[in-house]
Amino acid sequence: MSANNTNTSAYSDFHLQYIAGEWQKGKDDSVNTNTNPYNGDALVKIQQATEVQLNEAYEAASQAQQEWAKQTPAARAAVLYNVVNILDQRQEEIIDWLIKESGSTRIKATVELSTARAITLEAATFPNRVHGEIRPSNTPDKENFIYREPIGVVAVISPWNFPLHLTQRSIAPALALGNAVVLKPASDTPVTGGLLLAKVFEEAGLPKGLLNVVVGSGSEIGDAIVEHKTPSLVSFTGSTSVGKHIGELANGGDYIKKVALELGGNSPFVVLKDADIDQAVKAAAFGKFLHQGQICIAINRIIIEDALYDDFVTRFLEHVKTLQVGDPDKMETAVGPIINEKQVKSLKDKIAKAQEEGAKMILSGEIEGQVVPPHIFTDVTREMDLSRNEVFGPLVGIIRAKDEDDALSIANDSMYGLSSAVFTQDLAKGLRFARGIKAGMTHINDISVNDDSNAPFGGEKNSGIGRFNGEWVLEEFTRLHWISVQHQPREYPF
Ligand code: TAP
Repeated sequence: MSANNTNTSAYSDFHLQYIAGEWQKGKDDSVNTNTNPYNGDALVKIQQATEVQLNEAYEAASQAQQEWAKQTPAARAAVLYNVVNILDQRQEEIIDWLIKESGSTRIKATVELSTARAITLEAATFPNRVHGEIRPSNTPDKENFIYREPIGVVAVISPWNFPLHLTQRSIAPALALGNAVVLKPASDTPVTGGLLLAKVFEEAGLPKGLLNVVVGSGSEIGDAIVEHKTPSLVSFTGSTSVGKHIGELANGGDYIKKVALELGGNSPFVVLKDADIDQAVKAAAFGKFLHQGQICIAINRIIIEDALYDDFVTRFLEHVKTLQVGDPDKMETAVGPIINEKQVKSLKDKIAKAQEEGAKMILSGEIEGQVVPPHIFTDVTREMDLSRNEVFGPLVGIIRAKDEDDALSIANDSMYGLSSAVFTQDLAKGLRFARGIKAGMTHINDISVNDDSNAPFGGEKNSGIGRFNGEWVLEEFTRLHWISVQHQPREYPF
């Protein structure tokens, strides 16, 4: 069905798997009970998929991909443009699902939908942007052609925090470039991270078998997805520990494959002494507390140059106290619920550890259900747990830096290197500082949370391998094929 004939009644049947273009029941004994993290309401129960169903998904993807790769660029682009239209038509429905399934506030859900839309629009241009090359040869009478081809079947494993966008930024480019996909969404967000997108692509006219959504637990079915002989690329977004395991599996088994890993972060947010402090305070609050801090590129460490430290702490505390905490469905809520009880427990442990280690808690609040209000700590040092590890929640430590050099040394003192930010009114200084940071992304006078569909998104060190967006993802999701033509017979030495 084309987007023009869209039936706008709300999508249903999210209790089913989407395999080989059919909505079918999972055949495993276990059931995923998908709940609203704010009020605990059960949203849908999904019978999980078995390995036999996973094989079926890969078989369907492999077959469908061959025909899809032969389609004209215009035909593939048309499906992506239809998807954009459907995302627009169904924005309220999608935002509603993001709120109830992932605990997104309205603000975050709206941001997420717009980034998912942007990468879909970017991906719609990919079919016509793929091109090859003709290169001279050092062998007489030979011509070298370099073709850029679809990579084949892509396995996508996505997380729960920005489920719609972090899934779509893999599947939209993959499909646009002539590949097929087998997707496993996170168990906390099977709808917004997978099944809902399958409905959208189905409605947009994507041929059967090209997108398969297999709902199952990562610890049960994850290894089989990665080790399977069919995918040529595994695109994983999630924790560094699981990412390392996937990297090992993808290259340690019988079938070697490419991996793209988008992993954890520990973004420094540096405020130098000549910064616009009011702007820096507002940025720090938004960049830290958007989605309760559950973003890989969220501000994880606030580093303030000595001269501004006390003033920044006072103003930041005042500002954060004004943030509304609670029901994510309310327009004015800034900080909603944490995704699950396990994450809440890990945040409680972090609060206790920060105090044990000597950090001073200047803001806290009652934890009610899965809602954790903002917690701010001062007197934090680079050695403390709050500085060393990713928090993934609404807790933040503020570190004092002696001067610019000290701030840079603290910023780089991490095994992660995803995003980062620096505030200064001296652009030359800002650029010098930014270039000194070992990270994939640095934003001057803005938050570390940025995603432009035409700028390279990705990290260094333990934050991963590869880049999303623009021509970088185009390269990631295709393969090169060197084909040479010997025009005149060569003379061989024997
Ligand atoms: P993970 O536990 O790593 O889960 C991510 C995905 O991997 C989920 O779909 C999960 O499935 C699956 N998985 C778990 N074990 C697996 C295995 N053995 N084999 C294959 N797949 C497996 O991360 P999370 O808790 O969802 O997200 C939090 C972490 O992800 C944070 O560290 C955060 O920084 C990172 N993250 C990074 C980014 C980027 S862009 N770098 C974006 C979002 C999140 P189940 O849900 O079924 O367990």
